[in-house]
Amino acid sequence: MAKVKSIYVCQNCGAEYGKWQGKCDRCGEWNTLSEEIVATAKGGVRKKTVTQVLSLSEVDSQQLQRVATGMGELDRVLGGGLVKGEIALVIGEPGIGKSTLLTQLAMSLDDVIYVTGEESPSQVKIRVERMADGKKFDSSLKLLPETNVDAVIATVEAEKPKLVIVDSVQTLYTEDLAGLAGSVGQVRESTAKLIRMAKNIGIPVLLVGHVTKTGEVAGPKVLEHMVDAVLELTGDRHHELRLLQAVKNRFGATDEVGVFRMEEKGMTEVSNPSEIFLEEREDGVAGSCVVVVMEGTRPVLVEIQALVVDSELPVPRRVANGIDVRRVQILLGVLQKHARLPVGTKDVFVNVTGGLTVKEPSIDLGVCLAVASSLRGKPLPKNSAAIGEVGLLGEVRSVSYAERRAKEARRLGYTRIYSRDNYRKIKDFFKELKG
Ligand code: TYD
Ligand code: MG
Repeated sequence: MAKVKSIYVCQNCGAEYGKWQGKCDRCGEWNTLSEEIVATAKGGVRKKTVTQVLSLSEVDSQQLQRVATGMGELDRVLGGGLVKGEIALVIGEPGIGKSTLLTQLAMSLDDVIYVTGEESPSQVKIRVERMADGKKFDSSLKLLPETNVDAVIATVEAEKPKLVIVDSVQTLYTEDLAGLAGSVGQVRESTAKLIRMAKNIGIPVLLVGHVTKTGEVAGPKVLEHMVDAVLELTGDRHHELRLLQAVKNRFGATDEVGVFRMEEKGMTEVSNPSEIFLEEREDGVAGSCVVVVMEGTRPVLVEIQALVVDSELPVPRRVANGIDVRRVQILLGVLQKHARLPVGTKDVFVNVTGGLTVKEPSIDLGVCLAVASSLRGKPLPKNSAAIGEVGLLGEVRSVSYAERRAKEARRLGYTRIYSRDNYRKIKDFFKELKG
């Protein structure tokens, strides 16, 4: 039997100590030491073993076997479903809807064990009843009110369910370590044990982890490199829209976004996100332009809003939401120089509606048109959308997936599409818009 010994490692500089202390002697930081386990073989001598190497021809290239979760938007983010033995971490701020989403998932599959460290089983039942809204529901879901990770593992190994959900990883602890549940050492060691279990018996595990806006709370952030996938649930708590995005995914792409609405009776999937992003949009208002962004392989229409007003400050304000403010500044420079738009003395506010953050340059043209529209107080033509990058020389550039984007825009009734196909220079747009 390997003997368990623990050491204390500074999370800042990596210095190791035999005993806990408040301050790291090496780097001088306070409260950075956390307990970690080192297993030493008997007598302190490591056994040398030879491991078989594989030649490429011996490797099985079989497709990954996936278990569809039954929730299309979740499967999309996972890359088609959960892989056997996969361990995925679902992170998000408290109250954003992680438990709601996973309870729904647990109800839609059979043979799931839901480890409830955070809430009592009766709280989970109340949530299920609320989501069922008086209707009958399948009550075969197995709850496990346990926070000792070794007990959780023993139970799962005996029950062999199809999926394990742990809500949350911060409540788990192992008696191998002295620290409290939720400390970096406990969270990390508990996760390592669950990973070994998942790989051994081939059962996927979903872990819930809370993070605050600044990511300060100990735990989930230090787990990112250990788990197979990290899915982040984000959204504005005062709005019903929730986005689920893979921050990391060993078994799929990280650019797919799952879109949900948090409603009275749980999360509903939004399979056509353009509708929700454009839901409150009014036609014929100055300062608004529809653009098409790619969320993974799916084109999504969103609205860019701009507000341009006379500035009372020596250095006018530039504020951006959902788009990099430096990008807005560059585009304003281009508009000033190449389209002779007098934005230099104006405060400019730009907003991507719906809470989405867009990093791709294909919305440049839409930002320029929204700014120009607000400045002139003239709405853009009805049913128009803009697709194009804008270069420093005032040229309109083509973007990736141009045809797919345009098709989606036309499908939703935006038949007048501005892009490089119409005009090559940004100034040419304004000749038309003036008229
Ligand atoms: P929850 O899933 O408990 O969040 P997390 O696990 O991420 O901390 O969600 C908590 C909030 O969601 C709470 O304010 C109530 C609300 N809610 C709904 O709006 N609809 C629902 O169907 C449920 C179950 C909760
Ligand atoms: Mg919860």
